[in-house]
Amino acid sequence: MEKPSAMQKKFKQVFVTGGAGYVGSVLVPKLLVEGYKVKVLDLYLYHDNPLAAVADHPNLTQIRGDLRDQALLEREIPGCDAVIHLACVSNDPSFELDPNLGKSINFDCFEPLVDISIDAGVKRFIYASSSSVYGIKEEENVTEDLALEPLTDYSKYKALCEDVLMAKRRPGFTTLILRPATVCGYSPRLRLDLTVNILTNHAVTNRVIKVFGGTQQRPNLHIEDMASFYLHSLLWEDKQIDGKIYNVGYQNYKLLEIADMVRSVLGEDCKIVTTPTDDNRSYRVCSEKLKRELGFEPKHTVLDAINDLVAAFRDGKIPNSMTDIGYYNLKVLQGPKLAELQRPQPEPAVRGPAFLRTAAQRSNVA
Ligand SMILES: NC(=O)c1ccc[n+]([C@@H]2O[C@H](COP(=O)([O-])OP(=O)(O)OC[C@H]3O[C@@H](n4cnc5c(N)ncnc54)[C@H](O)[C@@H]3O)[C@@H](O)[C@H]2O)c1
Repeated sequence: MEKPSAMQKKFKQVFVTGGAGYVGSVLVPKLLVEGYKVKVLDLYLYHDNPLAAVADHPNLTQIRGDLRDQALLEREIPGCDAVIHLACVSNDPSFELDPNLGKSINFDCFEPLVDISIDAGVKRFIYASSSSVYGIKEEENVTEDLALEPLTDYSKYKALCEDVLMAKRRPGFTTLILRPATVCGYSPRLRLDLTVNILTNHAVTNRVIKVFGGTQQRPNLHIEDMASFYLHSLLWEDKQIDGKIYNVGYQNYKLLEIADMVRSVLGEDCKIVTTPTDDNRSYRVCSEKLKRELGFEPKHTVLDAINDLVAAFRDGKIPNSMTDIGYYNLKVLQGPKLAELQRPQPEPAVRGPAFLRTAAQRSNVA
């Protein structure tokens, strides 16, 4: 696979929604290193300044704002030629706290975001869906052609956004949908509510790794590979990716296998305690299509992610990992942030009805 920097850059300014999140705060500094101008739109729900290391970079603009604010999108997207859409309420329990709120962020504002991007001349739109859209599959290889059977609202709306984006595809507006596995590893905005990260945190902090069940499989992807995928997604030719959907994952492991790996890093005195569970849901994903068609192959293992996290713990980069709620999306949203998000959004001034019209009709709208 060719290195991103060796490939021709097509875009100058990238609009990254959710750029201050777990994935975004690893991705954004890399985009800057590659020479892109970057505009981040985020509500900074979980961390006030995860981009501190690059905050003064001349090519970075950070906008604290809400994805549902269409006037803001109309002001800020023009001038950007690519969008990477990461912002959302990003797990099942957080979504279920207030399903209407979750829908307003994860689905209702998606079509306006896409339309505003098209009107602003954005050439490429990259959408982070999720491998959870498949639900539970009997098939050993969970490939992109299998039917989507989302089990939760979070996954259902991820799948529905895919349909919206596919319908908006047109010449000059290239779309790429990815269905990532569960991401793992260190980030300046760390999530400790994701499988590998949870088990590592418990092992480091309590010397005990609690596993419910153990034989359930989980698909995993190192955060460096996740960021690398996004960097590549700005470099592939339109014809390679337009209208395509890719699983982005690497190693599928049973929970007990992950726990064993964590223990192998932290020492045999670390205890694994298994508790029986009724929740035997197993998830896997197969990312062969991505390798076959685009030559993209993750390089970093789950073991690398565990080692990186342990090193970050030792360097004091993950203080108060059990008590600081900023590591846990659900706990943050169980606090006052929820009421902030629930506040009514400004009504879109002129945009609403125009969406229902064709482009030609729209040009007649005052
Ligand atoms: N992390 C994973 O394991 C994983 C797996 C599959 C898919 N994904 C997808 O990748 C994307 C990034 O995931 P992540 O782990 O970085 O999530 P995250 O929760 O860390 O980041 C999401 C960011 O979106 C912001 N945000 C939420 N609502 C907003 C709003 N209304 N307006 C503006 N900003 C808002 C939050 O402040 C946060 O910084 C998400 O779309 C997620 O569904 C993640």
